[in-house]
Amino acid sequence: MSRRVAGKLALVTGAAQGLGAAHATLLAREGARVVCTDVNGEGAKGTAARIVEQFGAGTAVGARHDVTDPEAWERVVALAKDEIGGLNVLVNNAGIGVGGTIETCDFDDWRRCFSVNVDSIFHGCQKALPLMREHAPGSIVNISSIAGLIASDTMPAYNASKAAVWMLTKSIALHCAKNRMDIRCNSVHPTFVDTPILDGTARNHNIDKNVLLEKLARQIPLKKVGEPDDIANAVLYLASDESKFMTGAELKLDGGISAM
Ligand SMILES: NC(=O)c1ccc[n+]([C@@H]2O[C@H](COP(=O)([O-])OP(=O)(O)OC[C@H]3O[C@@H](n4cnc5c(N)ncnc54)[C@H](O)[C@@H]3O)[C@@H](O)[C@H]2O)c1
Repeated sequence: MSRRVAGKLALVTGAAQGLGAAHATLLAREGARVVCTDVNGEGAKGTAARIVEQFGAGTAVGARHDVTDPEAWERVVALAKDEIGGLNVLVNNAGIGVGGTIETCDFDDWRRCFSVNVDSIFHGCQKALPLMREHAPGSIVNISSIAGLIASDTMPAYNASKAAVWMLTKSIALHCAKNRMDIRCNSVHPTFVDTPILDGTARNHNIDKNVLLEKLARQIPLKKVGEPDDIANAVLYLASDESKFMTGAELKLDGGISAM
C-alpha cells in the first residue's frame, strides 16, 4: 500500500467526529502522525485512540482545544512538538453553522460563527507557522464550504464566514510563498456531506435527517450528498507532496453544484 504522507506531522482541528475524524484517520492510514483536537476533548481523544488501535502506538494523540482561543493554540502547537516531533500539516477543519436570514440572524450567533470559522484560522496559522517553518515542506488546508462561493438567503453568517476563509487562505498562501517558507495553503469547498453537522440543520427545519438528506441530494447534479472520505481524500492530496505546485487554490467537492 502506498503511504502518501509518510513521515508527515499533522494537526487536525474539530477531529472528534464528522469530517475532522475522517481527515485524521486517513492521514494516519497514509503514514502521518496526527494530533487530533476538538473543543470536545473526550471526542478528540476517542478519535486518537481509534487511530492508535488501527495503526499503532505513536500514530495519534488527542487533546481538548477551543480553536477560538489563541492560548489554547499555543498549547496544542507545543503538544505537537513534544508528542509527534513537530508540525508540517495543519488542517483547519473545526467549524459551525448558524441559521437565520439577514433579518433574523442573531448578532451573537453571527459573531460566534466568525469566531469559530475564521478567527480560528487567523490564530492557528499565526501560532503554528513558526514550528511549521522548522519542518518544511508544509501544507495548510482550510475547510471552507461551497457556501463560501455560492450564497443562500438562509445562511448569511455561514456564507460570509466561509467566503472569508476562502480569501484568507489566498493571503496566507502568498505570504508563505513570498517569504520562501515552502509552506502551501489551500481551501477545500464541500457541498453537503453526511456528518453530525446536518443533524442541526434537520432540527432547525424540523424534519427527519433522512428526509433532509434526500432533499439535499435532489439539489446536487450527482444526486447524492458527499461521504466524509470524499472530502478526506482531497485533504490527503493537499497535505501530501503530490500537490507541491498547488497553493492559494480552492478545491471544490460539490457534486457539480457550482457548475450549474
Ligand atoms: N458536513 C457538511 O455538509 C459540510 C459542508 C461544507 C463544509 N463543511 C465544513 O466542514 C467542517 C467540519 O464539519 P462537519 O460536517 O464534520 O461538522 P461536525 O459538526 O460533525 O464537526 C465539527 C467539529 O468541530 C468541533 N468544534 C466546534 N466548535 C469548536 C471550537 N470552538 N473549537 C474546536 N472544535 C470545535 C465540534 O465539536 C465538532 O466535533 C466545518 O468547518 C464545516 O463548516 C461541512
